[in-house]
This record gives sequence, structure tokens and C-alpha cells, in this order.
Amino acid sequence: MSRSAPQTACVIGTQWGDEGKGKIVDVLCEGCDAVARFQGGANAGHTVKFGGETHVLHLLPSGILRPGKQAILGNGMVIDPETLLAELDAIHQAGIHTEGRLFISDRAHVVMPYHRALDKGREERAGADKIGTTLRGIGPCYEDKAARRGIRVAELIDPAALKAWLSRVLPEKNALLAHCYGAPAFDLETLWREQAALGAKLKPAVVNAGELLAGLYRRGARILFEGAQGALLDIDLGTYPYVTSSNTCPSAIGTGCGFPVRRIDETIGVVKAYTTRVGAGPFPSEAPPALADLLRERGGEYGATTGRPRRCGWLDMAALARAVWTAGVDSLVITKVDVLDTLPEIKVAVGYRRGADRVDHLPASFPEEPPAIEWKTFPGWRRPTGDCRRFEDLPAPCRDYIAWIGAATGCAIRMVSVGPDRAQTIVLDRPLRATPP
Ligand code: IMP
Repeated sequence: MSRSAPQTACVIGTQWGDEGKGKIVDVLCEGCDAVARFQGGANAGHTVKFGGETHVLHLLPSGILRPGKQAILGNGMVIDPETLLAELDAIHQAGIHTEGRLFISDRAHVVMPYHRALDKGREERAGADKIGTTLRGIGPCYEDKAARRGIRVAELIDPAALKAWLSRVLPEKNALLAHCYGAPAFDLETLWREQAALGAKLKPAVVNAGELLAGLYRRGARILFEGAQGALLDIDLGTYPYVTSSNTCPSAIGTGCGFPVRRIDETIGVVKAYTTRVGAGPFPSEAPPALADLLRERGGEYGATTGRPRRCGWLDMAALARAVWTAGVDSLVITKVDVLDTLPEIKVAVGYRRGADRVDHLPASFPEEPPAIEWKTFPGWRRPTGDCRRFEDLPAPCRDYIAWIGAATGCAIRMVSVGPDRAQTIVLDRPLRATPP
């Protein structure tokens, strides 16, 4: 956000995650006071590069990398204390200090080691039907939250409460692990001691995050809400069941941060100039292997959390338009434009066909046979864009492609990213307004 920008904004992914939100949040939060996450957990992997260093964040909002910014982990998140502490260690070692500016919601749920074990057991057992989760225990933790047997940060930092909760839930977890998945059981006493020790380390940062955000807002602080994953991985609106277990769209900020959604001034959607997805599930615009390999290598398309190769394909306008509408996106940031620099032509899926019927949105379920795609083809620009710093510096076919995305979605284009470094970002002084096609 800049000085003249609205007080609050959110940044969300408009595809299947990995759109490059981490870098964009890092750039935007230069002009804000606090950054808050509202959903997800260590399944996210946000990569931020500057000054020759690369930082990969899983739980911490990207804003933590900017000195003086407050970073808030909202109650809608599922927090793995061990991962969080390791992440904090890594950034402390890189000389970034977080004392007094990191805040963890007392109502966020805790990912326990048994959640990770259950995630692994279920995925292994599902064989070919697996979701392809990140194995970070996300689904099992959200299940417990919905079933009202989850352990929250408030309990993690209170040893007596933690013991009482673990005593209630662990026998069932151990039975499941042993009988369904042949996995070892957890010892109550050992688990309690380990988790209580982690809780003690996190305790100084634990707050009522909703109250904190309300106070910041009333004092005029500029707040950025940082989404994880993407709109097409939303548990309700995404490609179910190949989705994550949280709501990834901005509506989740209300419940995931205790912050009224109507106080959010701008919703910024991040869209990659092509599409990727990790894990199983429908991907209508997936590219054939040779092109997918090329995009993967040029774009470094390997999961920041799991290292898995990402599936790659062309931009899917039908899916994007739906995500933009549902998430209420006002403006778009287009990332990884430079990855397309060498291509002779660029294709976009603009709709699907089932027999004679045109379908212009992702259906509720995808049968085995993928839908036929209606394509639009753009000329490539075949020039490096990584050094472009103004929109006018981009080759004309590249500008046309970007302008078309804006027009087709009805969104203003706010920024264009042409490389992984903070510096490789074109911020449009006057956002490129959409002109209908
Ligand atoms: P889970 O969130 O680990 O349960 O994984 C469910 C699905 O969401 C899998 O297809 C994952 O690959 C995908 N997923 C989860 N987090 C991310 C992310 O940050 N980026 C991209 N895909 C993700």
C-alpha cells in the first residue's frame, strides 16, 4: 500500500496457490503498518528474495521481513508450533528480529504431531485417490476444530489445560493411528511435555488478535491481510475434494481475524501469467509434458513447502474470472511474466466445452474425461522482460496480453512482476484500468 492508498487491503491468490503472493505482500507492506494472516498453516510456502537472500516463510506473514511492521497470526490459522519456532530461528539468524512485533492469536488452532501422522496415514492409504496434501496436518487439524475437539493456542500455553485436552483427545487419535493406519501411538506424558515446552516459548507473543487488530484499525494503522493458497483451493468454492481445508477467499478474514470484512477497502488478486497446481485434481488448461517442463524449469515451479514439481499449464480465464468474482477482487497483480519471455505464442483457456455445450465456469465435479478447451492465442514477445521497471518498457505484445487479462476480468492491473527479486516489480502509478474487450 502507498501513503495515498486505502487503510486496509487484502491480497489473495486467484488460482491454485503459488501465484507469488509472498513477494507481492512484501512489496505492498512497505507502505503499511501491520500484516495479518487469516487462514491456512504451514502448507503455505511464501518465497521472498531481496539483497541476494532468499527467505521461505510457511506460517509467518511475509510482512515480518520488513523491520518495524507488525505481523499477526490470526485465529483462522492452524499453527504448528515446532515449524513456527524453526521459522523464527531461521529469520533471527538472518538478522531479522521479531521481538515486540509478532502476535499469535490465542484462538488459533494448534497442529499437533498426531495431525501430521493422520495426514500421512490417510494419504498413504488413499493410494491413487489421494489429494496430494502437503502432509502438514492441515486437514486433520481443521477437522478437529470443526468437531470441537481441537487444541488452541490458549490451551497450548496453559500446561494444565493442555494436559486435560490431550487426555481427552489422544486415546481416540492413538486408536485411529494404530487400527486404521498402522502408525505408532503417541505417549501422553511425552507429547504433553514437548508441546508445553513449545507453548512456553511462544507465550510472550500470544494475544487476542481480534482486539489487537481492532485497536490498530481505530488508531489509523494501515493493515494488509495476507491470504495463503488460492481461490481454487477454497474448501467451499474450489475444486472439491482437491482443495485445502480452509476458506481462502477474503470472506474468511471476518472469521479468521475477527475483523469486519466490510472494513476492507481493497481486494488485490494475484495471478500468475500462466497456471500451476500441486497435488491431484482437475486442471483443464494443463500443458502437454514438453511445454509443462519448460514452464517448470523457467519458472522454478517446485513447491516451496514440499519441493514437489508443480503441474504447469496456460492461464485459465474461465477459472480466473470466477475466482475474481467470488473473491470480489478489485485489482490484479500479474506475476512471473518473464517466464513466458521465450515462447513464440501464448495460449489462454477462455472456456470449456462438453459436447455441443459451452461451459464457462469450473463445474462442481470433473468426470474422468477432461472438458474440451476453447483457446485464445496471443503472439509471444520473445524478449527478456526481467529488467523492465516501467509498464512502458515491456514489449508491446506483453502489454497487450496484460491489458487483455485486465479487460477480461474487469479488474485494474496494479502491478506486474518480472522476476523473483523485490526490485523486479513494476508498480503502475496509475493502475491500468480495464477497458471492455
Ligand atoms: P493441504 O492444504 O496440505 O491439506 O493440501 C490440500 C491441497 O492443497 C493439495 O493439493 C496441496 O498441494 C494444496 N496446497 C496446500 N497449500 C498450498 C500452497 O500454499 N500452494 C499450493 N498448493 C497448496
